[in-house]
Amino acid sequence: MKFLSSFVVMLCLSYETVAAPTPARLQRKGTSYKVERVRREGFVADGASALRKAYSKYGITASTKESGADLWDFEPYATVKEATSSSAAASSASASQTGEVTATSADDGSEFVSPVIIGGQTINMDFDTGSADLWVFSSELPSEDQEGHTIFEVSESSTFELLEGETFEISYGDGSSAAGVVGTDTVNIGGVTVTSQAVELPTTISAEFIEDTASNGLVGFAFSNINAVSPDQQKTFFANAADSMDEPVLTAQLTDDGTGEYELGYIDTSKYTGEMANITIDSSNGYWEFASAEYAIGSGDTQSIEDVQVAIADTGTTLMLSSPDVVEAFYAEVDSAQYSNSYGGYVYPCSATLPDLSVAVGSSHLVTIPGSLLTYCEIGTSSSGETVCYGGLQSSGDSEIQIYGDIFLRSLFVVFDLRGPSMGFAARA
Ligand SMILES: *[C@@H]1O[C@H](CO)[C@@H](O)[C@H](O)[C@H]1NC(C)=O
Repeated sequence: MKFLSSFVVMLCLSYETVAAPTPARLQRKGTSYKVERVRREGFVADGASALRKAYSKYGITASTKESGADLWDFEPYATVKEATSSSAAASSASASQTGEVTATSADDGSEFVSPVIIGGQTINMDFDTGSADLWVFSSELPSEDQEGHTIFEVSESSTFELLEGETFEISYGDGSSAAGVVGTDTVNIGGVTVTSQAVELPTTISAEFIEDTASNGLVGFAFSNINAVSPDQQKTFFANAADSMDEPVLTAQLTDDGTGEYELGYIDTSKYTGEMANITIDSSNGYWEFASAEYAIGSGDTQSIEDVQVAIADTGTTLMLSSPDVVEAFYAEVDSAQYSNSYGGYVYPCSATLPDLSVAVGSSHLVTIPGSLLTYCEIGTSSSGETVCYGGLQSSGDSEIQIYGDIFLRSLFVVFDLRGPSMGFAARA
């Protein structure tokens, strides 16, 4: 029995809604192509895991806010260690599971999935504007690695062709990886079809991906210059589909909980209000990268971000990772907020009111994320019985780019536009 803490780790409850992905809705409206984004079945939100996943993806070293901060360390919440035995006992059932629950709930998987049809087979995948490979669980993997996944059955596709001599390898900072062979097939996303799309089929894959049984692969919507196929780098689905769309765009219209809809080929003006900011994208690093060198908290003055000047928009990242300057200044305005070593991030009583956060997109626009949308999830109860929340805004650590994931994107109508390339940001209708 561990009565080390009265900080009872629960899994995040606020976004527990489970929705089973439905088959692709081939909802053709004029020349637009819609595809739903749903929370994957059985997903359990966990702030520390969401942060760890983002750090791994971008090779970020954990924040140095406090010495000894260790993302992999799930010791009980440091500041309430001196729990009284009565409150600890009261919550012992949950407390005794703390370590395991946190460890096994280290749900590093993708939170949202959307249906993709490859060679006629519908597979739920994660749309990721932060990478440029389309890879899928398939019959090329050892059968034990396929368990629990919907796989692309190569032999059942009459349109699949192996690209002889081409291979790919993707590896993340935490050692997770996928590597294998490459072919082409017909890929249909929401009704947009590319007939000779490079589809990467891992032959070896690390445990992190295998365990994430709700997602069966990734569709990268970043730029083809970071595609991992060699010797011949392949174009993304988005780049291949661009010519066949009226407008070469992907729009994301998410709701407060991060679910919602992607739309290809069309900017639906009924989905936003007011003016849309159209900003220049620097795609040289392969990302949807833009200037973001200013911020304001609440109604405060606009201030410069000294250390980092740019950000990327990433649908494949859950949290919003901003410069440590911004994050520290923000949580200084939140009652009782503190940096938790155990959770590798900022936490606060859920009763706290968060100020709005404005950040620059490009050099002449600020977008505001309402404070009410800046909480990621509940993570536990303190010794005084207060519910504790995990912030959706966390530090980008030593990264040279800020990573604006779902917490940022869901508050806006967002356009990824291959013309320019550019991005549009507007208030959700
Ligand atoms: C945004 O600006 C670019 C030029 O930089 C232009 O090609 C594109 O069409 C504009 N996007 C929208 C939605 O107006």
